Amino acid sequence: MTKPSILQIGIVGSGYTAEDLKTLLANHPNARIVGHHSKTLGQEIEPEPMARQCDVVFGCGNESSSQQFVPVVLDAGKKFIDLGGSYRSKDPSEAFKLYANRDGKNLQSAVYGLTELFAEKIRKAYLVANPGCYPTAFLLGMAPFFNHDLVDTDQTISITAISGYSGKGKSYKPVGGIHAYHVDEHRHRPEMVQACAQYVGAQIKLAFTPHVNDDVERGLETHTVFTPKHELTPEEIHAIFCDMYDGELLIQYLRDIPNINDVVKTNLCQISATVQAGVIKVIAMIDNLRKGAAAQAVQNMNLMFDLPKNTGLLSTYPSHL
Ligand SMILES: NC(=O)c1ccc[n+]([C@@H]2O[C@H](COP(=O)([O-])OP(=O)(O)OC[C@H]3O[C@@H](n4cnc5c(N)ncnc54)[C@H](OP(=O)(O)O)[C@@H]3O)[C@@H](O)[C@H]2O)c1
Repeated sequence: MTKPSILQIGIVGSGYTAEDLKTLLANHPNARIVGHHSKTLGQEIEPEPMARQCDVVFGCGNESSSQQFVPVVLDAGKKFIDLGGSYRSKDPSEAFKLYANRDGKNLQSAVYGLTELFAEKIRKAYLVANPGCYPTAFLLGMAPFFNHDLVDTDQTISITAISGYSGKGKSYKPVGGIHAYHVDEHRHRPEMVQACAQYVGAQIKLAFTPHVNDDVERGLETHTVFTPKHELTPEEIHAIFCDMYDGELLIQYLRDIPNINDVVKTNLCQISATVQAGVIKVIAMIDNLRKGAAAQAVQNMNLMFDLPKNTGLLSTYPSHL
């Protein structure tokens, strides 16, 4: 494939993630937005002309809009990065149940876009299913322990998480305070189980309790508690994080607990892990609209077009926009 020096970009949608994606692409040296489909903005472009104009289209709208654009964009030989959930599950019945997706053919070719875990597959993909924001933080925090076979898969791993209200999209009206929601089942839980199975090759049992903080717009924390196969010292934990993330400019392992204000409006993920009473508590923090959505989508685009992974993302780090 000849690598275009300036990628012609299409965006579908105009909500929170589309806004951040536009901000990031405006700072990207190899990207030009040439098509923007949005009902709200009164700019409706049919999938066919969008596919003709663009090298890659980002799905930032609701699920049905991605499902409308994906088959046309892929048939035209172009690439699609979906920030929504339609193409994340490999199980057609689950994709239909959770996201009303009937596009079984393209479901199978979609690559799960957790950049640091699946880079080699993402490089070759035409359709990338960008991960959900909670799974991103959870998986980045746990991957070093999975790499070192430190997680006993007989246990149920507990994840408590909290996100700013932008995590619920533009139609959500915050009322103030912190609220648990979808405690019985949240669609990111099966996504995390599947991603663990792909990464580790084992079925992991997860209990997941998300919360929304109606008093802040952005920022997300996952707090994961698990029992390691054997005791670990803080130095050993530090070493396994260095082993995985040395050289990863957007992932920072901290010996102290991260502060959400240090990741909001950045492309970073900050992680700490603490030993207490035989369990390990992993705290991972991201901006849900950046590493949890738009920044990760740009990393995936960079990989798919053979650009250095963090192109266009380092100028927005560490200073806030
Ligand atoms: N928010 C997050 O933290 C996050 C993180 C990771 C993944 N995602 C996923 O990414 C996709 C897009 O998420 P999002 O947060 O950008 O969604 P969103 O803010 O709810 O926007 C979704 C669509 O709703 C329409 N919209 C725009 N302004 C609106 C308003 N004021 N009220 C109601 N609808 C409005 C737009 O469609 P039109 O332009 O076509 O009118 C927009 O593209 C979703 O599938 C979501 O699950 C979100």
